[in-house]
Amino acid sequence: MPWNPDQYHKFQSQRAAPFEDLLRMIAVRPNLRVIDLGCGTGELSARLADALPESDVLGVDSSAQMLAKAQPHARPGLRFEQADLAEVEGEWDLVFSHAAIQWVDDHAALIPHLWRLVAPGGQIAIQQPANHHHPSHVFARDLAAEAPFRTALNGWVRIPPVLPMDRYAQMLFDLGAEDMIVLEKIYPHVLEDADSIAEWTSGTLLVPYFERLGDLRDNFMAAYRARLREAFPGSPVFYPFRRMLFAAHRSR
Ligand SMILES: C[S@@+](CC[C@H](N)C(=O)[O-])C[C@H]1O[C@@H](n2cnc3c(N)ncnc32)[C@H](O)[C@@H]1O
Repeated sequence: MPWNPDQYHKFQSQRAAPFEDLLRMIAVRPNLRVIDLGCGTGELSARLADALPESDVLGVDSSAQMLAKAQPHARPGLRFEQADLAEVEGEWDLVFSHAAIQWVDDHAALIPHLWRLVAPGGQIAIQQPANHHHPSHVFARDLAAEAPFRTALNGWVRIPPVLPMDRYAQMLFDLGAEDMIVLEKIYPHVLEDADSIAEWTSGTLLVPYFERLGDLRDNFMAAYRARLREAFPGSPVFYPFRRMLFAAHRSR
C-alpha cells in the first residue's frame, strides 16, 4: 500500500497516548530482544528502545516509504528492515506492535503466528484500533459500495479483520499465555471540524481505497467529506477513538 508518511504524521501526537499505555503494560528487563511489527516511521520504535535499557530493537515494516523515514532513527540497539509482519520468523523477548496488525487479515491465524515469535519467558504487547463502528469508518465502507466507486473498486470494500476483544483473550489463553491483560479504551480527541476527521483517516483508513480508486480518488474524498460534514456540523468535533490493547507473558 502506498503509505504517505507526511500525512500519517499529522496526528502523531494523538497516537502517543496509546503507545504510552502499551509501554506501561510491558515488564521492563534489561537486554531484551525486541521486534516492533509495523514500525512505520520509526519514532515510536526509538521511544520503545529508549524505554528498554540495553535492548536490541528491530523495527519491521512492509512499506518502503515508511522505512525510508525510519532509517535516520537507526542507531546501536535500533535497526529497521523491510518485512511482512505475518511472515516474520525468529524468537524475541518482546513482540511489540502498535497500530499495525489491523492491516493484516485473519487474526485467528495471525495471533498464534505472533505468539510463536515469543521466546520462553518473553512477552507480547499489541495495540490496534478498534474504531470500525465509528461513522468515519462506516461512511468509507458505505461509499465504496455505491456508484461510481463500487465499479472502480471492483466491488472491493475493506472489511476490518479486528475481532471482538474476548476472542483475543481466548486465543491467548488457548496458547498458554500468562499474566494476560486485554482491554479496550476510548481515546478522546477534540478536532477542529469534520474535515479534520477526513484529514486523519486519509493517512490511515483511506489509504487502501486511494490505492484502488485511481482518477476517482478526489471524488471519493469529496463525497466522504460531505458525509462527515453532515454528521458533524459543529466545531470543535469530538472524535472518540476506540483502541484495543493486549499483553501477555509466555512461561519459561
Ligand atoms: C498506522 S501505521 C503504525 C506505525 C507505527 N507503529 C506507529 O504506531 O506510529 C501502520 C504501519 O503498519 C505497516 N504495515 C501494514 N501492513 C503490514 C504488514 N503486513 N507487514 C508489516 N508492516 C505492515 C504499514 O506500512 C504502516 O507503516
